[in-house]
Amino acid sequence: MIIAIDGPAASGKSTVARAVARRLRYRYLDTGAMYRAVAAEAISCGVSFEDTVALQGLAEATHVSFTYHGDDPVPSAVMVGSRDVTSEIRTPAVDAAVSLVARIPGVRSAMVPIQQSLALTDDTVVEGRDIGTVVFPDAAVKVYLTASPEERARRRFGDREAAGHEAEIAAVAADITERDRIDSTRAASPLATASDATTIDTTGLTVDEVVDRIAELVSGVAR
Ligand code: DC
Repeated sequence: MIIAIDGPAASGKSTVARAVARRLRYRYLDTGAMYRAVAAEAISCGVSFEDTVALQGLAEATHVSFTYHGDDPVPSAVMVGSRDVTSEIRTPAVDAAVSLVARIPGVRSAMVPIQQSLALTDDTVVEGRDIGTVVFPDAAVKVYLTASPEERARRRFGDREAAGHEAEIAAVAADITERDRIDSTRAASPLATASDATTIDTTGLTVDEVVDRIAELVSGVAR
């Protein structure tokens, strides 16, 4: 079974999707990490974010994989080939660039079949922007997570501080607004709510409360 979790930046998707995977013993697939890996490669190779042909070529050549530890369904590392890029894909430079890379149709068409194949065999929680609309339109459970802009800025600010990156809350809020604008106005698979998705506003809810709601949706689906 596929549980599709979509939503804007810092809406709580990653935290919730990981917790759902651990509670239900589903595999966790972070599709944003794959676009981030391509953006990190573009930065390290000096490829311009305007050069759509080169970025498509880079996406096709970038072999992104996930490393799992023991029986944890959440990967411990994101790899490009044999290189561990787990930290590199979370830098402010990648945050700023990734929407520009993810909006390119050729980059998306390189990534989507890989995402589909990674969730072919196991029950999987898949997190992204277009999972319920494009990648897994037949997902058994589709959730669209939102949170107020203030809450999202606070969360992302906390992530940045925890990762040791300097941040200012106003700049973080502006960055989130800009990424949402690019993600939801791009022509190729824009961020959108699937018509059959359940929207959950996570503002003021604990992670456990959101996971409870999703677990209820899962148990309501005939397998
Ligand atoms: O969820 P995230 O912040 O790690 O996503 C990084 C970027 O990738 C963000 O700009 C949206 C984009 N993305 C996408 O376009 N489609 C997906 N399925 C997942 C992420």
